Amino acid sequence: MTDSFNEWTNEEQLTDHLNDERIVASTSIEDDEQLTLRPQYLNEYIGQTSLKEALTVYITAAKQRKEALDHALFYGPPGLGKTTLAFVIGNELGVNVRTTSGPAIEKTGDLIAILSELQAGDILFVDEIHRLPRQVEEVLYSAMEDFYVDIVAGTGASAQSIHYPLPPFTLIGATTRAGHLSAPLRDRFGIIERMNYYTHEELQIIVKRSATVFNSLIDDQAALEIAIRSRGTPRIANRLMKRIRDFSQVAKEDMISLQLARQSLRLLGVDQAGLDEVDRRMLLAMIEFYQGGPVGLRTLAANISEEQETIEDMYEPYLLQQGFIRRTPRGRVVTDKAYSHLNIKRN
Ligand code: ADE
Repeated sequence: MTDSFNEWTNEEQLTDHLNDERIVASTSIEDDEQLTLRPQYLNEYIGQTSLKEALTVYITAAKQRKEALDHALFYGPPGLGKTTLAFVIGNELGVNVRTTSGPAIEKTGDLIAILSELQAGDILFVDEIHRLPRQVEEVLYSAMEDFYVDIVAGTGASAQSIHYPLPPFTLIGATTRAGHLSAPLRDRFGIIERMNYYTHEELQIIVKRSATVFNSLIDDQAALEIAIRSRGTPRIANRLMKRIRDFSQVAKEDMISLQLARQSLRLLGVDQAGLDEVDRRMLLAMIEFYQGGPVGLRTLAANISEEQETIEDMYEPYLLQQGFIRRTPRGRVVTDKAYSHLNIKRN
């Protein structure tokens, strides 16, 4: 156990620490709005029920022992609330949350600078952790396991390694690609949890909560309609809610009704299954140019002018989950469900 750890278990220090200002990284108006839309505590966080139950136990245990929470990795499709959850955990533990992302940390020095500013018990949230450069990742190993980093000063024969202790902290990693994490990094997380798509009922509650934040009135039916078309994703539900609020404001409607929601969703290009223009373009390209597949990812990406990674992370998971496409060893194929959804007869 390190010295800094023993220091932190001192009651007085802990109380001081709990009284510290919380760091909330915020860079734009959009982010500010996101923060108010975001739940602050676990009891306000809708959905991900089994994950919340497990986290409640781990957080309670860590607080009872006055220890930093074990490192946690959250993985799953984008927009399901991984960042939100990191801030919620920070609030529950009463610690600061420092946020960064894999691609933002280019050099080992960048990571060491961030680590050296952490206080005991703090959370370091690393989004897109699968994109950390390899040398940076290697610095994390000792930081996560034993709370120290070795800094090499000087070059050649005069190079010296300096042992730099860190306060005990919690790394929370988020990734859309758990499979892209190296085994040594993955093995250093004590908590590894998958985030799942939300149910329509859960999204309906989130939409109604967001309407309250916006001071908008929304009909239950309209909230459910938005929920059904949000691809199981709170980020999409909130984005649609904001645009529909614009429509209701301009139409001078006090209450967002089912009819207004449907009209707005049509104008937004979101269909009954929640598919948007890119989804439909992707399915249509597979049908028109490749008789429904199999099509390789690279070919498909070139055809619809999207990045392969965007297709894999943002579009494909929902289309697969809903059974509009299937993956085969030879590529993606369109299913009968997609043909009937698009009203196209299979040849
Ligand atoms: N806003 C975005 N995600 C949410 C969630 N999971 N619970 C409550 N509000 C949210």
